Formats: sequence, structure tokens, C-alpha cells
Amino acid sequence: MSSPFGDLGRILVIIPTYNEAENIEPIVTRLRDAVPEADVLVADDNSPDGTGELADKLAANDDHVHVLHRKGKEGLGAAYIAGFRWGLERGYGVLVEHDADGSHQPEQLPRLLTALRDADLVLGSRYVKGGEVQNWPKSREILSRGGNIYTRIALGVPLADATGGYRAFRRATLEGIGLDEVASAGYCFQVDLAWRAVKAGFRVVEVPITFVERERGQSKMSQAIVIEAMARVGRWGLAHRGRQLRGLVSRKG
Ligand code: GDD
Ligand code: MN
Repeated sequence: MSSPFGDLGRILVIIPTYNEAENIEPIVTRLRDAVPEADVLVADDNSPDGTGELADKLAANDDHVHVLHRKGKEGLGAAYIAGFRWGLERGYGVLVEHDADGSHQPEQLPRLLTALRDADLVLGSRYVKGGEVQNWPKSREILSRGGNIYTRIALGVPLADATGGYRAFRRATLEGIGLDEVASAGYCFQVDLAWRAVKAGFRVVEVPITFVERERGQSKMSQAIVIEAMARVGRWGLAHRGRQLRGLVSRKG
């Protein structure tokens, strides 16, 4: 089957949800309109507000829509890993990360998919030319920009936006980065995967996106998530710098 996005195989867009009842139908509708050939998987952590049941109704009316019901809230990273496994087992060639809350624009997905023709991982980036953030409070922007600076210093990754959550992976990339060893539960999962892809030598490309802060529902960002990210990225950075240093010393000796 030929597709405007090349012969990368079937596309699965994974939407992790926790209490997104007001957002789930509009976002699935927009995705189905923007990229009709893609399937959608809602990975719901048993949301108390009934998001999972709403997703079931969407799935009942559209065989491109699927739902993965998980037993409880285990974090964004865990939900994505379960979603990736679901998609890899079913033979999808492209796996996409997409928030439910309207921050990611489905209409920009073709841009990510087109870039994946010449990349192994495409990051939707707020901080390259043409990318932007709308309606964020100053505090959140500082956290995000600071997180990216911290990541670049700790790991030396050549990425403007290593923490973003709008991405497209080739299946071979997910198969090649050791998903089984990913322990990050919260949002540092994003840095973890980008870092693994860079280290494994995959081609990681950033394309500009417009990130729009949600209008309905609440962010699940928390202090615990920030602390986990700082601690893990710091630890990876120390290990990485240690390896670099040992490399230098052994070259001299
Ligand atoms: N299943 C599940 N389980 N979904 C979750 C969980 C969880 O524990 N936590 C969050 N989500 C879902 C939300 O329902 C939403 O669809 C998506 O993950 C993003 O969550 P938000 O709470 O809206 O995230 P954010 O706007 O603060 O953060 C976004 O930007 C960050 C970078 O600035 C996300 O894209 C992050 O991945 C990204 O790191
Ligand atoms: Mn959000």
C-alpha cells in the first residue's frame, strides 16, 4: 500500500489518558480527520472520570480506534511502553506519541510523518525555528526551558527539545533502544527515550510544532515528576561523563 509518508508500514497514534473525559472525543476526531490512514490507541489508566468508557464508545463506532485499559495510574512512561508493546505485537511500522488535551495539533502530524521518511525518530520541537508554545504560564515555560538546558548540559545531547511529548518512531527504533530496561515512570521518560535513540546512533530529527496549553482538564505534572526527572537525568549524565573521562584517560595511557 503506498502512502504519502513512504513505505514505513501502518501508523499507530498512542494517546495516554488520565481524566481526559472532556478532551478525548475532540482529539480522536481531529486525528482521524487529519491522518485518516492512521489507527488510534487510547491507553487509559482506569480514569475515574470515565475517559475509558468514552474511548470504548469511539472504538465501537470506528474500527481504526482501539482502547488499552490499564488497571490504574502508573505514569505516562508506563502507559506509553504498554502502548508501544501493543502496537509492535500487532505489526505497526510507525508509533506516534500524542497528548489528549489539545496541546499537540493533529493537523501537524503529517509534518512529523513526512520527516520520518529520512529519520528513525522525529521529535515535535517547540524550541527550533518555527516552533512555539501558546498560553503557558511563565513558571511552566521556565521549567521546560530549564529542563532542556539541564538535559543538554548533563548528557550533551544535541537536541533543542528533548522533553517534548509529540513524536514519531519507526518500529525498528523502538526495537533497538531496549524498551525493557526503561524504568522512567513520569515525564523524564521522554528524555530517556530520546537519549537512548541518540546513544544507539539512530537519526533523530526535530521538526517545529505549535504547543498550545490545554483549555480543559488539568495537567498531571507534579513535583514528584520533576524530582524524578532531575535525579535520573543527573545520574545518566554522571555515568556518561565518567565513560567519557575513562575514554580520555585510556587513550592517553
Ligand atoms: N495513561 C496515563 N497515565 N496517561 C497520563 C498519565 C498517567 O499516569 N499522566 C499523564 N497522562 C496523559 C494525559 O492525560 C495527557 O493526555 C498526556 O499524558 C500529557 O499529560 P499532561 O498532564 O497534559 O502533560 P503536560 O501538558 O504537563 O506535559 C506535556 O509536555 C511535557 C513537556 O513540556 C507532555 O507532552 C509531556 O510528555 C511532556 O514531557
Ligand atoms: Mn498537557
